[in-house]
Amino acid sequence: MVARLFFLPRLEGDIGPHMLFNGKEHLVWSLNNYLGLANHPEVREADANGAADYGMAYPMGARMMSGNSVHHEELENNLAAFVGKPDAFLLNYGYQGMVSIIDSLINRNDVIVYDAESHACIIDGLRMHMGKRFVYQHNDLESCEKQLERATRLAEQTGGGILLITEGVFGMSGAQGKLKEIIALKKKFDFRILVDDAHGFGTMGKTGAGTHEEQDCIDGVDVYFATFAKSMAGIGAFVAGEKEVIDYLRYNMRSQIFAKALPMPMVMGLKKRFELLKSKPQLREKLWLISSTLQKGLKERGFDIGVTNTMVTPVFLKGELQEATALTRDLRENYGIFCSIVIYPVVPKGVILLRLIPTAAHSLEDVQRTLDAYSEMGEKLKAGYYKEKKVAV
Ligand SMILES: Cc1ncc(COP(=O)(O)O)c(C=O)c1O
Repeated sequence: MVARLFFLPRLEGDIGPHMLFNGKEHLVWSLNNYLGLANHPEVREADANGAADYGMAYPMGARMMSGNSVHHEELENNLAAFVGKPDAFLLNYGYQGMVSIIDSLINRNDVIVYDAESHACIIDGLRMHMGKRFVYQHNDLESCEKQLERATRLAEQTGGGILLITEGVFGMSGAQGKLKEIIALKKKFDFRILVDDAHGFGTMGKTGAGTHEEQDCIDGVDVYFATFAKSMAGIGAFVAGEKEVIDYLRYNMRSQIFAKALPMPMVMGLKKRFELLKSKPQLREKLWLISSTLQKGLKERGFDIGVTNTMVTPVFLKGELQEATALTRDLRENYGIFCSIVIYPVVPKGVILLRLIPTAAHSLEDVQRTLDAYSEMGEKLKAGYYKEKKVAV
C-alpha cells in the first residue's frame, strides 16, 4: 500500500522541478511556480531578511486600522503602474479576495454575466450576490452576447449595472479568455469587466503584465485581479483599477477590513519577487521555451492537448477511473513523473486529464524525460495495460 499516492501527497525537499515524493526523486510538473522564483536565492534571502527584520507579527491589525506600512503602499503603487491601472490594493489571499471583490462591487440590482468555467473563487463570490446572474458557455462569444442582451434587459428594469467576469488564462485548459473580443462588445452593451488573471500575471504579455497586455486591451479591463500564488510564488493577491473603484474596495471589502494585513516578511519577499519578475525577462523566455518544447513534443507523439494557447499544458486521455489511478501510479512509481490528475466530475466521464505546469526552472532534459515516459504510458494505455492493474489509493 502506497501512502498518500493521490490525496494529500507530500512533496519534500527544495521547491522546484526535482523533489522527493515517498522518499524518491520525482520530476514535478504540478507547481504554479511559473518563473521558478519559489526557491530563487535572492527571494529566499529577501524572505529571510523580512522575517529577521520584522517578525511574522508585523504589522498588527487590518490595513484600515493599524496594519498599514510604507512597504504595503509602495508595492501597491508599483503593481498598479505595471498592470497599467491608476491604483491597486493588496489582498490577503486570492480566493477570499475575489469572493470579497464581487461581494463589495455588486448590489442586488446589479447583474453578473460570467464564463461557465470560472474558478471556484468567482463561483463562490457569485453565491454572495443577491441579484441575478447569467452564465455564458465557456469562451463562447455568441453565448456571451446573448447573456449580455438578457442582462441588459434586466438591468433596465432594476436600474443596476452589469459586471462581466472572466479569467485571463483558464488554469485547467490553458485557454486565454477572449478579453479583447469581449471588450469590443462594450460598443453594443453597457457593462464593466472584471478579469481574474491569476495565471496570466507575470507570464503573459511583452513585459509580463498580464493577459490584457498580451491581447493589447489594457484600457478595456475595468477591474484587474491577480494572485501572488502563481508566478510570484508567494501568498496574497491584488486588485487594480480606477482610483475611485479601488478606494471604494479599500474601504468596503469585508475580507480586508475585518482581517489582519499581509505580514511584512511576505510583503518584503513580494517586493523582491516583483523586482525579479520585471527585471528578468529571461525567466519568461525560459518558461516559453519549456512550454513550447513540451507541447510540440506531446502533439508530435499524438497526444491531445486541447485548446491551450498558454504555458498550461493539459493532456486529455481516454479511460476510466481504474486506468486513471493505475497510470498515475505507473508514472509516479516507475518513471518518477509527478503531475496532477483530474477525473470526473471535473472532466466528463471516460476522460482523464493530466495537467502539466511548465516552469522556468525546468530543463530541456526534464522535457525529454517526460516525453519518453508519456510515449510509453500512452502505448500502455492503448494496449489496455492499465485496465487490469489494481491500485491502492
Ligand atoms: C484563477 C484563480 N483565481 C484565484 C485563485 C486563488 O488564489 P489564492 O491561491 O491566492 O487564494 C486561483 C488559485 O488556485 C486561481 O487559479
